[in-house]
Amino acid sequence: MIDEQTVQQILNAADIVDVVSDFVALKRRGANWVGLCPFHNDRRPSFWVSPSKGLCKCFSCGEGGSPVHFIMKHEQLSFPEALRYLARKYHIEIHEKELTDDEKQAQSKREAMLMLNEWACDYFEKQLHDTQAGQDIGLSYFKERGFNDVTIKEFRLGYSSEGYDDFYKAAVAQGFNPQLLFDVGLCMPDDRGGGRDRFRGRVMFPIMNTAGKVIAFGGRTLRKDKNIAKYVNSPESSIYSKRDVIYGLYQAKREISKQDKCFIVEGYADVISMHQAGFKNVIASSGTALTEGHIHLISRYTKNVTEMFDGDEAGIKAALRGVDMLLKEGLNIKVLPLPPEDDPDTFVRAHSHTEVEEYIKQNEADFINFKSSVVLKDAQNDPIKRTAAITDVVKSIAIIPDEIAQMVYAKECSNLFGMDEQTILRQIKHYRNKYIEQWRKERQQQQAREQRLAGNVQAEEMPIDAPHPADELTDNTTIAPQQVQDVPRTGSRSNNVNVQEREVIRLIVNYGMCYLTDTRYEDGTVKPTSVLEYISNELMLDNMSFSDPLYRHTFELAKQYIDGYYRDLESFKAQLEERIREYFDEEMKELDNNELDALDSTALILAQEQKEKTATSRANVRANNDLMEFSSGYLMKALCSLDDDPVRQLACELATDNLPQLSKIHTQFAVIVEERDKLIHLVPQRLFNWKNAILVLRINELKSKIAHSSPEEQPQLMEQLQTLYATRHTLAAFIGDRVVNPK
Ligand code: CTP
Ligand code: MN
Repeated sequence: MIDEQTVQQILNAADIVDVVSDFVALKRRGANWVGLCPFHNDRRPSFWVSPSKGLCKCFSCGEGGSPVHFIMKHEQLSFPEALRYLARKYHIEIHEKELTDDEKQAQSKREAMLMLNEWACDYFEKQLHDTQAGQDIGLSYFKERGFNDVTIKEFRLGYSSEGYDDFYKAAVAQGFNPQLLFDVGLCMPDDRGGGRDRFRGRVMFPIMNTAGKVIAFGGRTLRKDKNIAKYVNSPESSIYSKRDVIYGLYQAKREISKQDKCFIVEGYADVISMHQAGFKNVIASSGTALTEGHIHLISRYTKNVTEMFDGDEAGIKAALRGVDMLLKEGLNIKVLPLPPEDDPDTFVRAHSHTEVEEYIKQNEADFINFKSSVVLKDAQNDPIKRTAAITDVVKSIAIIPDEIAQMVYAKECSNLFGMDEQTILRQIKHYRNKYIEQWRKERQQQQAREQRLAGNVQAEEMPIDAPHPADELTDNTTIAPQQVQDVPRTGSRSNNVNVQEREVIRLIVNYGMCYLTDTRYEDGTVKPTSVLEYISNELMLDNMSFSDPLYRHTFELAKQYIDGYYRDLESFKAQLEERIREYFDEEMKELDNNELDALDSTALILAQEQKEKTATSRANVRANNDLMEFSSGYLMKALCSLDDDPVRQLACELATDNLPQLSKIHTQFAVIVEERDKLIHLVPQRLFNWKNAILVLRINELKSKIAHSSPEEQPQLMEQLQTLYATRHTLAAFIGDRVVNPK
């Protein structure tokens, strides 16, 4: 465990914009930043990052939180692991208690594997550059393929020598445990108690994760022998899962988000050649079908994907196959068929940059249109084939989640195939419904599987890796189109008490530590009172508490921060002195500059005394603002960084409730009155609303009780009702003339 002080230090250092933008391309919008949500399949930017609040939030899927929780969720780390990640990022030394043995083992195992791979990568690079065989065989091969030195370095290409166990021996001599070599798959145990190298006599392509860590290798043989696998890859391990890694993404990600587009090619060499030719937004599927994990990874950086493929018949067939998956995830797909004799590698090497650009411009085609023309050409004048072709295309359209896109394609299809648009639309709907039903079933099976695994049932082979939608659906299925039902929104919102409670807890989360008023105590002392303390007093006086258990819990937790806040406030104030002096200097400089500007027009020279006065007051305003920000941020940041899931989620939700609206207003009007400046009215008002809601609820309950009561009971109940009315009356009068009544 990490000690509390270090945790605090990490939380303070972590800048939300900085942390998020390591993974999400963000654009500025007003005071905030937006980007595509990395937690769901986002089509329009709904992920908001607020630097002032130190929070992020997706307004579509609701995910979000403080920097720690972003990292936890995004990198699938535990709370302490996420803290460690941030500590590393911000160079904060961690003072920690001992890990448990299991934790230590798991962590050091992963780290050891990565360390070994890093060493191996370096070793293979050195073999390539510094040994005779490496230069003669490996390097000359790369040169022959046109790779220059910069490229070879950037992709960290290497060479693994022919010997039976050259690498094994070197690694063991270096001190690596043989078992570790087997675990990452660089070597295989042999029956003589030693190990043999997996990548003997191959040129090496290291595979990196998005952080640039080497997690696996691909090795290409240089022999022409058809009986030898052209490529050998590292086996899956706890640091390498094929489903979640894309070759070249580390080198391409910057350019992909910059251009908001990526090219998908098939092989390592294709990526590298294109990269060298100046097309850096290129990644490879490594010859396998793209998985959902891959797509999720790509869509963090862009939604616009162009698939490049060989223009021969096999290439086209292959290109048509993998695309349904991409469509399903809402990506915007284009295709770029190359001349039949080329693959991306040979194509970019044979043409200049401008020629390639021109070719892309001329030949890049929308996927659906491309597919339509291909299947139509196949069908020619055969009516049966034609029907099948249309159905084929319609099914692809039905996978696209965007209805508007569906309609546009329906229209185009109708032109192309000479068919009634409405008929096509009906067909699309029909298949769409079938898909939805099928995906629902798949999800259920998946959940069942996860539950079984969670229940520690032996993970036997499951038969439920259902085939892809397009493979299973045949035209003679006679399932009636299933109606898709909207999930009904369950609303506790109909309950006014809950609404009012939520508003009060919202004020606490956002402004809990902000100064509200001075309270005079019975012994005559006067003390500054925060929003949280004020509310807490009020509730105590009226013997009230939150009816919602989560709000209650959050409220209790919040109160635990009061002492710490006043302690930290003292040290913050101590720093403030220094800051005021800095602000003063800045403001003086600013005034001097203005004077210089003004000199040639109106001579506006302030007296030194006047200048100092102005600068002092400006410096104070700024310092005061800092203080307010410190206070309002204190509790919010604390609650939003809690390890307690429900409280954290609630706090983040409440802290970001009005995020986008706020920034819209910012752009429209120069000044907005911040809620923070109206607390003195807002807090009593909201407390009143809550109490009032409770009274109204009780009154209504009592009324219905009276309606169903016996004549004997009624007088007593009526009396109770009168009391409630009277209380409500007093309350209303009270709020009417009271702003804040210091007690
Ligand atoms: N691949 C693989 N194992 C194989 C063959 C291919 O992993 N036995 C993967 C590699 O990632 C390879 C990609 O599929 O880069 C495409 O295969 P292919 O077109 O055969 O290779 P190229 O990349 O074109 O290789 P080269 O140009 O070096 O022949
Ligand atoms: Mn090739």
